[in-house]
Amino acid sequence: MKMRPGISNKGYGTLHILLPFFSTVVIGQSAVTLPVPETVPSDAVQAPPNFVSFGFETPYLDNFANEFSENLVSSLAKRMSAKPIIRIGGTSGDRVLFNADLKENKKCVEGACPFSHQTTWELGPGYFEAFKKFPNAKMTFQAPLRGGEAGKDDINIERTLNYVRNAYNALGKERVESIALGNEPSVYYKTADEYIKNAIKVEDAIISNLTLKGEDAKIFQALDTLSPAAQSHKPYAVQEVFAGPDGINKNGRIKVAAEHYYQEPGAGKEDWDANKQQGRVMNHTAIARRLDKYMQSMNSVQNVQYILSETGGPMGVSVKDAAGFGAALWSVDFQLTALTRGIKRVVDSGRPIAEHTSWVPDDSTKDHNGGPQVRAAFSADMFVADFIGKNPGRVVELKVEQTNHLLSAYAMYSSDNKKVTRLALTNLRLWDGSASGGNRGKQTFIVPVGNGVKEAKVRRLRADKGVGATGFDVGGGGSNVTWAGEQWSFSLDNGKGHFPTGKAQVETVQVKEGRVSIDVPDSEAVVVDLA
Ligand SMILES: *[C@@H]1O[C@H](CO)[C@@H](O)[C@H](O)[C@H]1NC(C)=O
Ligand SMILES: *[C@@H]1O[C@H](CO)[C@@H](O)[C@H](O)[C@H]1NC(C)=O
Ligand SMILES: *[C@@H]1O[C@H](CO)[C@@H](O)[C@H](O)[C@H]1NC(C)=O
Repeated sequence: MKMRPGISNKGYGTLHILLPFFSTVVIGQSAVTLPVPETVPSDAVQAPPNFVSFGFETPYLDNFANEFSENLVSSLAKRMSAKPIIRIGGTSGDRVLFNADLKENKKCVEGACPFSHQTTWELGPGYFEAFKKFPNAKMTFQAPLRGGEAGKDDINIERTLNYVRNAYNALGKERVESIALGNEPSVYYKTADEYIKNAIKVEDAIISNLTLKGEDAKIFQALDTLSPAAQSHKPYAVQEVFAGPDGINKNGRIKVAAEHYYQEPGAGKEDWDANKQQGRVMNHTAIARRLDKYMQSMNSVQNVQYILSETGGPMGVSVKDAAGFGAALWSVDFQLTALTRGIKRVVDSGRPIAEHTSWVPDDSTKDHNGGPQVRAAFSADMFVADFIGKNPGRVVELKVEQTNHLLSAYAMYSSDNKKVTRLALTNLRLWDGSASGGNRGKQTFIVPVGNGVKEAKVRRLRADKGVGATGFDVGGGGSNVTWAGEQWSFSLDNGKGHFPTGKAQVETVQVKEGRVSIDVPDSEAVVVDLA
């Protein structure tokens, strides 16, 4: 097979077909030919079967523990060959207090009650029943470290053990993936040494209280680094905490090294607009450059999984920007970039009131966001899970010749014959059908395929309204978002998923002269299966 990198516009429809009643003439983008190595490149990484993951902020676990959320988790689990791992944690997870006499599940007692992550909750025995839900998932839960507002209280081992013991017992040993040692500790421990000392103290107490022996004691998740600290290494990140003979893993009990990633954490403090969404969020180079800052930490750990355990796009902005279709496309590109760099898991974090949450689980925040709903961003996780599939092979990012940073492409090589079997292509050019978006452009990708490939099957992550779409539950029937023809909704399917046209949507594209040509409209992403 010939590799044909670069731009090619020979005879591949670079002019959009224009309907006569449109007055403006839109010149289409040049077709891009993807350099797809025919056999697996040496820098391809093995895709983990449980890469895609959800997360619930600690005190809201019981809000999520219902049939609707279980159905959404099942929608993910059935696409995967391993159980998804749900993360229970967050800022408020360091502050929780156990109250054995509390009749309700929980009571908000301090801070910005009851919706913020900056809150302290008392948890009763009823809260822990929620750990028994989600039978087809495992969980990582957080051992509370320092408590009180802004972590001002000292570590209290009794308090820590109360949460850990109750969670561990309710979940059952088999479903405990790991126990996280606090959250964003640089907020309250100013040096790596201080964190290491206290985290190991907690490890020791947990191991003894749960009587964990041998391999069972290698159960801890370290750090959950604050996003800016993870990027700047100031005051410390995974690299600093693992370094040297007195590093956090000196006892060999760390299973997972975790850091947090937000694309634009301060977006809500600006006048956020489409230009910023395009330039800083829906932009492959902006994503890749931010991820570059995590690579030193990732490469510094051995025999430990390196994951991003809390993630989000633009924060504190409208639901449309934070969890609408633009955010879904950001999520796809971000997850695939992380995947092809060897990051082992990316956790999509949820809290009922948060603008960026992929779904609102219940009525608790009804007055603020209308109650239970699936948002566009949820579909990104289904897309990535299906790209990885049930028989994950090795994956690599493909170089796309371009000037505007708004296209990306990824390839998967099958685990058995090492041939390319699947591609993911994104066109992040922002098109908003709810604004005066003009005509929607498209990108043609030309893919040279190897001998033996007869056809390509194309599945699309799409919305008629482009980034104006928020999903059926939020925006109604004009705001649909579908992945391969499937849509998820609270009101229509209780999170089980349904096909608005009655069936899955898969297009077949024939191979011509050893190549397939795939059109991806602006603000859309596709998965292409080669067979
Ligand atoms: C674990 O801690 C609880 C509460 O402090 C205590 O009742 C129990 O005996 C401890 N178990 C072990 C094995 O130390
Ligand atoms: C995408 O991000 C890169 C890096 O920040 C920037 O140079 C480029 O201009 C951005 N592209 C667009 C279309 O805003
Ligand atoms: C949007 O989805 C709903 C629910 O499946 C369906 O009834 C409706 O026809 C869809 N609208 C469009 C424009 O496809």
